[in-house]
Amino acid sequence: MTLLRVEKVSKHFGSLIAVNDVSMTVEPGELRAVIGPNGAGKTTFFNLISGFLTPTFGRVMFDGEDVTQLLPARRVWRGIARTFQITEVFPELTIRENLRIAVEVASGYRLRVWQSQDADGEVKARVVDLLEMSGLTEKADRLVGELAHGDQRATEIMMALALKPRLLLLDEPTAGMGDQETYDITQLIRKLHRDQKLTIVLIEHDMRVVFHLADRIMVLDQGKFLAEGTPQDIAANEAVQAAYLGKAAA
Ligand SMILES: Nc1ncnc2c1ncn2[C@@H]1O[C@H](COP(=O)(O)OP(=O)(O)OP(=O)(O)O)[C@@H](O)[C@H]1O
Ligand SMILES: [Mg+2]
Repeated sequence: MTLLRVEKVSKHFGSLIAVNDVSMTVEPGELRAVIGPNGAGKTTFFNLISGFLTPTFGRVMFDGEDVTQLLPARRVWRGIARTFQITEVFPELTIRENLRIAVEVASGYRLRVWQSQDADGEVKARVVDLLEMSGLTEKADRLVGELAHGDQRATEIMMALALKPRLLLLDEPTAGMGDQETYDITQLIRKLHRDQKLTIVLIEHDMRVVFHLADRIMVLDQGKFLAEGTPQDIAANEAVQAAYLGKAAA
């Protein structure tokens, strides 16, 4: 069954149409990229999927249910988690503490960790799992604010993963990174996709990342759908090339 079905969504900000009649379908296990020039509406499109914005028109179906009007937290419970274009972590806490918070939120504080040693052990074990999965174990007790950007981003991604999502949305996971960090984050995303069978939609500017990772790519330009296809299709698409060169699309 289709996991995510975005149906003809638009978002108007006054007279500006940031997203204009865009549809997208994502199947379980897919790794989809959304690309497009600056201001194309990519982040706004993510906000419509994750619930930070409500569409002016159209609807968002997740796992067969209409989630268009649900608040972000409700969508998290349904299984949609995201990271932000600007990394969102608690810089004054350690990686382990950041992950612990995410694990506790994911349990809905149902585990009552302050009352039961078993529950506390369960949370700790889950944090250890997340650390191992991400290769962050050795840095677990360092303050996140003192770490390199790539490690901060990896922490943020693992916090999203702590929510046990069925769909993970990543908004420019390699933004502002050098080659080595970009490579490391790309490897982490690939690993999560492969080992956790996670469905991922990512916005990405770095074409090397997109072409290495994505099964399919959707291109937005000035709020509108421009093209969709495999990396090879998109690389050969003249309208896409024109949009990236700043010319009118053919
Ligand atoms: N809350 C808002 N209020 C008004 N205009 C907005 C708002 N959010 C986004 N916009 C506008 O909508 C358009 C699309 O912005 P958006 O951030 O979605 O683009 P983007 O494709 O993510 O760009 P970038 O690659 O720079 O991150 C832009 O013109 C932006 O200025
Ligand atoms: Mg953006």
